[in-house]
Amino acid sequence: MYRNLLRPLLFLFDEEFGHKLIITLLRLFYFLPGARLLMRGLIGRRSAQLPVEVMGLRFPNPIGLAAGLDKDATSVRAFIDMGFGCVEAGTVTPEPQTGNPSKRLYRLKDQRAIINRMGFPSVGVKRFVRNLQRRTIGGIVGINIGKNRTTPLKQAKKDYLTAMRAVYPYADYIAVNVSSPNTPHLRDLQKGAALETLLVALKDEQIMQTKTRRHYVPLAVKIAPDIDDDAIAAIATLVTKHKIDAVIATNSTVQRPGIEDQLLAAEGGGLSGQPLKTLSTEVIRKLYHHLKGQVPIIGVGGVENAADAWEKMVAGADLIQVYTAFIYEGPAVARRIIRGLERQVRAAGFTSLQEAVNKARTGVHLMR
Ligand SMILES: Cc1cc2nc3c(=O)[nH]c(=O)nc-3n(C[C@H](O)[C@H](O)[C@H](O)COP(=O)(O)O)c2cc1C
Repeated sequence: MYRNLLRPLLFLFDEEFGHKLIITLLRLFYFLPGARLLMRGLIGRRSAQLPVEVMGLRFPNPIGLAAGLDKDATSVRAFIDMGFGCVEAGTVTPEPQTGNPSKRLYRLKDQRAIINRMGFPSVGVKRFVRNLQRRTIGGIVGINIGKNRTTPLKQAKKDYLTAMRAVYPYADYIAVNVSSPNTPHLRDLQKGAALETLLVALKDEQIMQTKTRRHYVPLAVKIAPDIDDDAIAAIATLVTKHKIDAVIATNSTVQRPGIEDQLLAAEGGGLSGQPLKTLSTEVIRKLYHHLKGQVPIIGVGGVENAADAWEKMVAGADLIQVYTAFIYEGPAVARRIIRGLERQVRAAGFTSLQEAVNKARTGVHLMR
């Protein structure tokens, strides 16, 4: 129904309006009595159970919604009810901000891709937290934090700490976004000394919060695909050294692989969807080579179906996230991927996804 009816309708609208419409309709739908049951019954129905344990959390399945769609955490519950194993809300910034001027979102339909330069439009952390508090969610919620555009890079640490303190009681894990291409110089925070300073501060805060709240919330760092092998090795060393709980690989890319001849390729911003797939999988593979399973990897970039998800898991990802495929495939995308993975696990003669992936990884990584 989505592909034949809703998507053509949605694609009549301006791209950003379309994304906002999804979030608004979901929010309004949840005011109706029985909405939750209906969503679970219609879309989340028969979601296979492929539980995975990552960062000390038990995810009902490995397919999560990536950051950026539910930026203000208004519709988290709806996405959980659709069958996503986890929803990453945000990026949220400490203070409200409008983001970059419009137009800032482009669809490349034939390439099943999106280019965006949103620049963290956010209601700010206070309202974000109120939005989350209002709802009983009953699923795993990651909260992705960033810095305000006007905050100088030298003071970025303060912004991340402010956001972290505010969201800590409401997050199952916190994702530290140092990889958006749309906030000037943000990605400099992925580099050596800057990253180490930030990670040390966030880790100290995590220890402090754990003591006062008697509750440990894992920290994940989200990285860009536009980094070389030395940078990947350096990130792996730092996250291991500072006991970061996971790496999310990757954000959108500033490269234009395979779409150089497209008119829209000249638009500035991050490219996501199918053209990003191989690039992000390669980052995951290299990262896994260094991390050797000591720090889990959340794989994201161009995943549309079970084969894509499986490829990233064999490369080293423990969990998967999708964004662009949600726009092209609709709300049943998580369920379809999960059912495909379930078939793959059964065909390989396993009952647990993690066992099947470990077996497949051994073969692949031994061959290399
Ligand atoms: C319109 C749009 C907005 C996004 N906003 C954010 C964001 O605020 N924070 C973030 O960490 N990633 C953001 N992302 C990146 C996605 O979370 C994801 O890493 C990327 O799109 C690759 O996955 P995909 O190919 O499945 O879309 C955004 C992506 C898109 C398309």
